[in-house]
Amino acid sequence: MPRIVVLDPLSEDGLKLLDAAAGIDYEERIGLKGDDLRNALQEFDGAICRSGVKITAEILEGNTRLKAIARAGVGVDNIDVPTATKLNIVVMNTPGGNTLSTAEQAWMLLMALSRNVYAAYHSLVEGRWDRKKFMGNQVTGKTLGIVGMGRIGQAVAKFAKAFDMKIYALDPFITPEKAAEFGVTLVHHVHDMLPLVDYLTVHTPINNETRGLIGKKEVEMIKPGARLINCARGGIFEIDALVGGLKSGKLGGVALDVYESEPCTDNPLFGMPNVICSPHLGASTEEAQTNVAIEAVELLIDFFTTNTIRQSVNFPST
Ligand code: MLT
Repeated sequence: MPRIVVLDPLSEDGLKLLDAAAGIDYEERIGLKGDDLRNALQEFDGAICRSGVKITAEILEGNTRLKAIARAGVGVDNIDVPTATKLNIVVMNTPGGNTLSTAEQAWMLLMALSRNVYAAYHSLVEGRWDRKKFMGNQVTGKTLGIVGMGRIGQAVAKFAKAFDMKIYALDPFITPEKAAEFGVTLVHHVHDMLPLVDYLTVHTPINNETRGLIGKKEVEMIKPGARLINCARGGIFEIDALVGGLKSGKLGGVALDVYESEPCTDNPLFGMPNVICSPHLGASTEEAQTNVAIEAVELLIDFFTTNTIRQSVNFPST
C-alpha cells in the first residue's frame, strides 16, 4: 500500500480526505529537517508539504522510494525540482487554491500603507491622539504597477479596477488582447512603469529575471512617494535599496509579506516608519488552506490510485 507523509501542518479537510482514501496509508511527521527528513522520506512513496520544509538536493539524493511530492501551495522554491526530476519524482503544486487570499493580502497591505493603519493604531495604544501625523493618500484613481499577471496579479488587477486605478502591467506571457481584457496597459520593462506608478506590487516567482528586480537604480527611477508591496517571494526587492529609498523620503512606504530567507525575524526594514511587514501570511486563511490541502491530497490520491498526473511542475521520464 502506498505510504504518504505529511511534512507541514495540513488543514483538517485534507487530513480527512487522506483518512478516507482507500488503499493509502499516511502519517504526519511535522517539522523534520536534515537527516531526520532525509531518512523519513526514504520510508514513503509520497509526501505533502507547504513551505515550512526544505526538500533540498541533499535531502533527496539516493532516495529510490519516493515517487511524488505534492506542494499545498503555488511556489515550489522549497523543493529541489531538478533533483526530483533526476530521481523520477513528480513534483505537483496547487496553483489556484490560494489566489484570492494572497491577492487580498497584497491589497490589504496596499490600503494599510496608504492610511498608516499600523502606525496610527500603535500611537493610540501608546496613549496619543495624533490625527495630523497620519495624513494618508486616497487609493481611488491612483496608478498601480503589477509585475506578473498570473492568477494573483489578475485578481489584484480586478480589485484595482474597482478603485478606478490606472494599471500598468509587466508580464511577457500576456498578449495585448488579454491585457485589454484585464484593463491594463502592458509595458515591456519594469523601468517603463516606474516613473508612472503610485504603487507597485509584484506577483512572480523568484528566478534570474526577478531577483533584485527593484534595486537602487529602480528606486531612483520610481515616482516620488511610491509605495511598494511584495507578497510573492523575498529577493525580488533589494532590501538595502528600500531602506535607502525610505530614509531619503523617495519611497512613500514598503510592505513585505515574504523574505529572502524564512523564517525571518530580523530585517533592516522592521520598525522603520512607513513599513508594514507580515510573516508570509498571504495564503494563511481558512479558505486558502482548505483549498490547497484538498487539492494537494487529491493530486496524490489520483497519482497513487489511478496513475494520473493532473498537475505537475516537472516531467520525470518514467
Ligand atoms: C505559495 O507559494 O503557495 C504561498 O507563498 C504560500 C505558502 O508558501 O504557503
